[in-house]
Amino acid sequence: MPSSTRPDTTPHLQSRLPSVGTTIFTVMSALAAERGAVNLGQGFPDFDCDPALVGAVSAAMKQGLNQYPPMAGVPALREAIARKIDRIYGHAYDAGTEITITAGATQAILTAILCSVHPGDEVIVIEPAYDSYLPSIELAGGKAVFVQMDVSAQGYAVPWTKVANAVTNKTRLIMINSPHNPTGSVLREQDIKALADIVRGTDILILSDEVYEHMVYDGRRHESVCRHPELASRSFVVSSFGKTYHVTGWKVGYVAAPAALSAEFRKVHQFNVFTVNTPVQHGLAAYMADPAPYLDLPAFYQHKRDLFRSRLERTRFRLLPSDGTYFQCVEYSAISDQPEAEFAKWLTSEIGVAAIPVSAFYHQPKESGIVRFCFAKKDETLNTALDRLAKL
Ligand SMILES: Cc1ncc(COP(=O)(O)O)c(C=O)c1O
Repeated sequence: MPSSTRPDTTPHLQSRLPSVGTTIFTVMSALAAERGAVNLGQGFPDFDCDPALVGAVSAAMKQGLNQYPPMAGVPALREAIARKIDRIYGHAYDAGTEITITAGATQAILTAILCSVHPGDEVIVIEPAYDSYLPSIELAGGKAVFVQMDVSAQGYAVPWTKVANAVTNKTRLIMINSPHNPTGSVLREQDIKALADIVRGTDILILSDEVYEHMVYDGRRHESVCRHPELASRSFVVSSFGKTYHVTGWKVGYVAAPAALSAEFRKVHQFNVFTVNTPVQHGLAAYMADPAPYLDLPAFYQHKRDLFRSRLERTRFRLLPSDGTYFQCVEYSAISDQPEAEFAKWLTSEIGVAAIPVSAFYHQPKESGIVRFCFAKKDETLNTALDRLAKL
């Protein structure tokens, strides 16, 4: 029936997320497509994953592994994850009771928040922040308490004294993200120590979003909270195969957490998604037997970061450090005094390269004159973008 002839009887729905609208990511991608711009806005690779991974998944399908797996995930995959975490970070999670496979990190984050945050509880969010955090807290009835990162020529840093001052007797959870989207900053050992000092002796939980765990550069190590038993004992640690294996569209991730936290997580998970698709889990389990793909990832992306930075340094952009992730933030005051969203639109329409304003990662847009580029692209894509950006 054409919509004009439909009776207008749809009941009004009071939105549970009234402030959510079309995101800047959608706006910028649509504009990039319309203007034929190179899309360095949205964070995903424009190259394919390893054919061996596709082969492992299709082998699982052909073997008939196509029905519901156990609720917490395929045991072989949980065991492979537990082995990896033990090998790299030295923390032995029990694959049976402490690792749960999720429909991407986004579901892991939502479920971890839903199972731990009650109406009125406060959750400390460090901004700029990934855009799913705030709606997830709101859906749980929690209250987000924001602490903004400091930004200077040295890059972004978490002001731990401000985090400590934001703690109240209602604080239930502190959310951290390292390597950090959008800033490309990474937490160091002193950051982890500062966090441990804040939560010691409290009931505060930690949600550590580590989806970029295998993208840390210049020989640095990733400071997973798994390395720190004192923090691991109160943390949900979240990761994503989408980032590690160049398969963002597969939406498979996991959460590692102590048994008591995992048990509550699984209660919500069971009625949230129940479980995650079987053949992909089997394929990932087989593929994880070889650690090379994730161990080689820093070198793979550091090459792209260095290519991108070396040519961008010749423009009037001021480059902030990119110590991890596949993001490069740039400050553009020598080029324009436009607000970030306007500048990003101009860059897309007039220069032909899409970027994302960092202001979009604040609950109330904050202007710092900084935009984010994603360098998870083929070298030829990066070079095309760099040829265009060379005008600036
Ligand atoms: C910081 C951060 N957390 C979580 C996610 C979501 O990961 P997934 O696609 O596995 O849900 C992303 C994706 O961009 C991210 O950047």
